[in-house]
Amino acid sequence: MTMLVTFTHPDVFGKGVEEGWADPRTDPAQIDWASRLAAAAIPFQVIDGRPVNPCETTGIRYGRNELGHWGEQMAADAIVTAHTEAGRWLVMVERSDGHGWAIPGGYVEPGEDPEAAAVRELAEETCLNLSSMSRQVLPARYVPDPRASDEAWMVTLPVRFDLGAVRYSDLPAVVGADDAKRAAWVWANSYAHLDAYLSGFDAGRVFRAHQAMLRDLLG
Ligand code: RP5
Repeated sequence: MTMLVTFTHPDVFGKGVEEGWADPRTDPAQIDWASRLAAAAIPFQVIDGRPVNPCETTGIRYGRNELGHWGEQMAADAIVTAHTEAGRWLVMVERSDGHGWAIPGGYVEPGEDPEAAAVRELAEETCLNLSSMSRQVLPARYVPDPRASDEAWMVTLPVRFDLGAVRYSDLPAVVGADDAKRAAWVWANSYAHLDAYLSGFDAGRVFRAHQAMLRDLLG
């Protein structure tokens, strides 16, 4: 027998609504789905007024788990790399919510350009301002965020910045700020290298939402 779990974290109803990251509506049937479907980066179905996660079954069938937005929530992530004699380095942040080490990023604000959101989140979380730097916008992708449910999920726009070849001592400083506990340049010649390097930061591990994306990017 399959158990259909329903869960929405209490913060979604309280803090989430007050801070503006959660839908105030508790009944998804009251959402204007036509406009959300038109804006969605990854198409999904709405059945009987309830959105259905197009990419995975999370174990939380109904409710929003720890995310605030019914259906797709758009995020933007900044992938910042540089190369030294030792190989490739990647900027990562340790999340203050205990979910591990992640690419700097966050929610796209309503009406905000996702590319600008990646630049803003990078500056907020690492104090690194790359607003005037050239970049490559990758296709939007689903990220298996551990806070998601079958009715609330994350899609991100990865934005790539490559600082090119530099001496190790010339890597620009990164400082953890906002909701990042720490920020660091992480040795990332491959995903395995990155994983091993992070274990040196108090047994750090990669945020589940970003594991597949980093495997694809780093090889
Ligand atoms: C991930 O969570 C996204 O890829 C993005 O990095 C992040 C957004 O959530 P917050 O960091 O704003 O909590 O799914």
